[in-house]
Amino acid sequence: NSVIPVIAIDGPSASGKGTVAQRVAAILGFHFLDSGALYRLLGLAANQRGVALTDESGLAQLALAMDIRFEGEAIWLFGAPVGDELRSEHAAAAASQVAALPAVRAALLDKQRAFRQAPGLVADGRDMASVVFTDAVCKVFLTASAEARAERRYKQLIGKGMSANIALLLQEIRLRDERDSQRSVAPLQIAPGAALLDSTPLSIEQAVEEVLVRYRAACKE
Ligand code: CDP
Ligand code: CDP
Repeated sequence: NSVIPVIAIDGPSASGKGTVAQRVAAILGFHFLDSGALYRLLGLAANQRGVALTDESGLAQLALAMDIRFEGEAIWLFGAPVGDELRSEHAAAAASQVAALPAVRAALLDKQRAFRQAPGLVADGRDMASVVFTDAVCKVFLTASAEARAERRYKQLIGKGMSANIALLLQEIRLRDERDSQRSVAPLQIAPGAALLDSTPLSIEQAVEEVLVRYRAACKE
């Protein structure tokens, strides 16, 4: 399994990880893992089943039992399609809350590692390089200014026909960054050996190219 290459893209909210990781995966013909979706789905499942977001062992059990299917952009949870609510800041806040619990993170490890399949995987999240795929051949920490990220998220939500308030988004993003960076397990951090990529001035295409350049360079070493 460890010979299957992984490109790990970590970073804060709305830095472009998901979009960039998906495009890199498409270009290379690799599989793609949106690890944040697993934490978001757990928050959603907990809500549906009345498990408190503070009930660590209940959440860990639910994480192990979760039946999830990804098909392109579509996601099914326990056989039912999941809508755009998964992308709301409300779902993200619940995800960030359950993600701070060590038993929950441990329960989701195997589900994430199962995505490592030939010919390769591009995985995005917070701890892809530092915990889940420590042997990733290429590690990138993708960031952007908080203002740029709030604006990107704003446009993304409006584009989906969802309502959004840019000042509030900036506040929520900062709060979530802080919780994700301060927690004791798998905090958001630049992993050893990861390249820092600030996408504030970059288009999506430029960010994709920067990742591909690093991946090709890493493969030659
Ligand atoms: O996955 P993450 O939360 O890091 O971000 P994303 O959902 O991939 O990107 C957030 C939004 O920013 C998307 O609508 C992207 O199209 C946009 N974006 C951008 O405008 N410029 C970039 N360089 C990267 C992403
Ligand atoms: O797209 P965005 O970066 O806003 O969110 P996401 O990647 O879907 O992650 C939602 C939340 O899940 C984050 O704020 C983290 O608390 C948590 N998460 C995590 O702890 N570890 C990961 N590998 C991915 C997400």
